[in-house]
Amino acid sequence: MRILFLTHAFNSLTQRLFVELRRLGHEVSIEFDINDRVSEEAVALYAPDLVLAPFLKRAIPETIWRHHLCWIVHPGPLGDRGPSSLDWAIAEGASRWGVTVLQAEAAMDAGPVWASVPFALRPATKGSLYRAEVSDAAVAAVRQALANLATPGFTPRCLPAGEGGQPGTWRPLMRQAERAIDWSRDTTDRVLARLRAADGHPGVRDEIRGLPVSLYNPWPEASLRGAPGELLATRDGAICRATLDGAVWITHLREPQGLKLPATQVLGERLAGVPDAPLDPFVVPAGETWQEIRYREANGVGYLFFDFHNGAMSTAQCRRLRQACERADRRDTRVLVLMGGRDFWSNGIHLNRIEADEHPAEASWENIQAMDDLTRTLIEMRERLVVSVMRGNAGAGGVFLALAADRVWATPGVMLNPHYKNMGNLYGSEYWTYLLPRRVGEAGVDDVLGNRLPLGTPEALSLGLLDAVLESQGAAAESEVVQRAEALAADPALPGWIADKARRRAEDEAHRPLQAYRDDELARMSLNFFGFDPSYHVARYSFVWRRPHSRTPLHLALHRNRRHDGRQSEAVAAGSERPV
Ligand code: COA
Repeated sequence: MRILFLTHAFNSLTQRLFVELRRLGHEVSIEFDINDRVSEEAVALYAPDLVLAPFLKRAIPETIWRHHLCWIVHPGPLGDRGPSSLDWAIAEGASRWGVTVLQAEAAMDAGPVWASVPFALRPATKGSLYRAEVSDAAVAAVRQALANLATPGFTPRCLPAGEGGQPGTWRPLMRQAERAIDWSRDTTDRVLARLRAADGHPGVRDEIRGLPVSLYNPWPEASLRGAPGELLATRDGAICRATLDGAVWITHLREPQGLKLPATQVLGERLAGVPDAPLDPFVVPAGETWQEIRYREANGVGYLFFDFHNGAMSTAQCRRLRQACERADRRDTRVLVLMGGRDFWSNGIHLNRIEADEHPAEASWENIQAMDDLTRTLIEMRERLVVSVMRGNAGAGGVFLALAADRVWATPGVMLNPHYKNMGNLYGSEYWTYLLPRRVGEAGVDDVLGNRLPLGTPEALSLGLLDAVLESQGAAAESEVVQRAEALAADPALPGWIADKARRRAEDEAHRPLQAYRDDELARMSLNFFGFDPSYHVARYSFVWRRPHSRTPLHLALHRNRRHDGRQSEAVAAGSERPV
């Protein structure tokens, strides 16, 4: 089929559906929902068999749904309607939720149902659920809907009438008044539910020591206690605040009109008198707490977890992680598993912190040096086998960081964006010029970097970026990793593999030193950061400030791409390719 995605952005769910539907043999073209006229033009150019809306912030124009089959991917179970679906479910502690594929009609989320897939709602942030359970259920629901469409005689069912005789149950947009936290009365469970329901957008509005802020990324704290609302401690950029019956960590804050940044950076001097409570990554705390980097060891295997919010890795985070790697490298283990975070593996340098810096070019430079130092530490581990396990999505330099390991595994459903060009034509570093060709060959480099498209795990596996795709996801994946890592550690071939890698590294170094790769990459990056062409700074600014799209990039909008087919060439020649 020819499927046109009408979407607000090419976000993680849209990317996931894009790779899954293409893998099923469908052709997918994308149009960002900019205004009615542009959407209508896209439909006219592409003449799709189906319009699919994975992530829309407004209704599909009637001029489109009246004449074309249009499906909305709604992140709610059968009968649920409204724009804050997941938010209500998390805030109210639902244990099951779902994704429904509805046909677009005049009333929002009220059209005939083509498929609906339920899932268990884990206690987690909205973003975490969206990238995992919601995305999996959306893929299953769209596949089911396509199968139904192909079934002769299948009729999508109408929503049963709910309250007031209207179809389904309409839940309105959740407002800040309904999200608000009363620190003097709310329990930890309630505070966590509210914060999780608002993560990563729009956050919960609050005030801390006189500063209006929105709160993001909460973690439970088992031990620290204080008067409700009191700030109890700081750690690795996060703040710990007392609730009625306990405390929570909040890692990120955003001032009105500001950027989402580590909480301690936003609060600055307002934190006077709040003690820092560092926690060594190698220490196992007594109960739940915020430990951004943690090292655990069992049966001859070391596991290094790094839960960097949004996968963004600042200079300081890279340095802390590198120190942890160096310590892990001194342990008496033969296998080190880099576990990344549950929600993200890594998205490379920390663009928000760079944007917030007084000197963004210098801050970019420092950050990429710190990423490179970290990557090099991993490449140079000679006495153990290093495994990267991507349990969450990875982008740009984050993908190449993973390739520094000897084995690269991923959980099913993870999305990889192994390219830099979308960020203002960044050249990229992280030793990719050494790491990528040794996996995919010189000929494969352009397949990975050049097309600027996301890859699913099967595609990454066949290109050679991955060595294995795990069978399980989420909590189950951790046990599978332990099993596989212990099997590696116990394998009689392990000493041979380690000797081979040390020998190969020495040969590679003799052929061309790592420093030479780094120098060449950084010479190009220096032009990106300090040179005459400001593309990277412009792209970073648009990305972190979430500037709305003014047009769909041509590599996504096949229907606007001259090279796509003859019919479109005519349309383009008639003037439809001008930027909108
Ligand atoms: N620095 C800071 N924040 C980042 C980030 C980075 N490198 N990469 C992603 N984020 C943030 C986003 O701003 C977003 O923040 P939010 O919680 O306020 O919404 C969040 O992570 C999720 O990102 P989003 O773009 O919504 O996720 P996605 O899964 O839809 O898209 C990517 C994934 C990788 C395509 C996209 O995040 C991206 O292009 N990131 C930049 C990668 C990059 O160029 N890094 C620098 C070069 S090494």
